[in-house]
Amino acid sequence: MMVELPPRKLHDSKILFITGTGTGVGKTVVTASLVRALCLRGVDAVAAKPFASGCTPDSDWRDDDAQLLTAASGTLEPLNVISPHRFSHPLAPITAAELENRTIDIHQTITALHDLAARHQVLLVEGVGGAAVPLRGEYLVSDFARDLGAPVLVVTSSALGTVNHTLLTVAHLRARGADVARVVFVRPHEGPLTLAEETGVPLATKLARVPSAGVVPFIPEFHEAASLPLALESLPTLCDAIQQLANEITGIFA
Ligand SMILES: Nc1ncnc2c1ncn2[C@@H]1O[C@H](COP(=O)(O)OP(=O)(O)OP(=O)(O)O)[C@@H](O)[C@H]1O
Ligand SMILES: [Mg+2]
Repeated sequence: MMVELPPRKLHDSKILFITGTGTGVGKTVVTASLVRALCLRGVDAVAAKPFASGCTPDSDWRDDDAQLLTAASGTLEPLNVISPHRFSHPLAPITAAELENRTIDIHQTITALHDLAARHQVLLVEGVGGAAVPLRGEYLVSDFARDLGAPVLVVTSSALGTVNHTLLTVAHLRARGADVARVVFVRPHEGPLTLAEETGVPLATKLARVPSAGVVPFIPEFHEAASLPLALESLPTLCDAIQQLANEITGIFA
């Protein structure tokens, strides 16, 4: 018989790890919105992106995700702390690192994130791609989430396919020993909920046995934002799903 453990309370941990069903699913939108929601409540929250691929080799090899995450919290922590492993190739970190003759020190990365968390009240850590993306050897993002010791928020799409993608991701994370705490669904388009969303979201939540924070709306202004200030302003920070997660992290429902 399967033993049901009560869902972990998010405010029990200073760190929340955010992964997803795949690249482009909405991890950065969720992480940036959440860190902003926390900061607007007066919480000293920061968000990091320890592994980033496809960074532009301009003056600072700046990564769009780290840039948005930094702006969303307004932190003064330097880019090297927020995003220590930036690769130019838009590939899995293991491959990008190999092509760029670099190695990823997992232990050092985790220690640095724990140090960062110690300087703030809350640390959100965005993964890279999906949960089974390799970082080094056979070591995956899911292993990193487990070793970081943080509860995991799974970002998934609300669209058709969510049951399959959500269940596979949650099962994989659990098989690796990660602590799956919440799932959140991101809409890939505007308009009324489709039948696939209306049926798929509750089904995925029920079958995955993970509490859901709900559905993040699609924000056309964010999708089309050409500038960082505009993107920041159009984040879905005030939507119910993000507010619920912020409530849970700050222990309002404790
Ligand atoms: N709620 C939303 N409203 C409007 N557009 C969105 C929303 N969520 C995601 N998008 C669009 O999808 C793109 C990818 O989202 P996001 O960058 O958050 O994904 P990701 O999972 O962080 O991807 P990566 O694997 O590259 O880190 C965004 O740049 C944006 O164009
Ligand atoms: Mg991202």
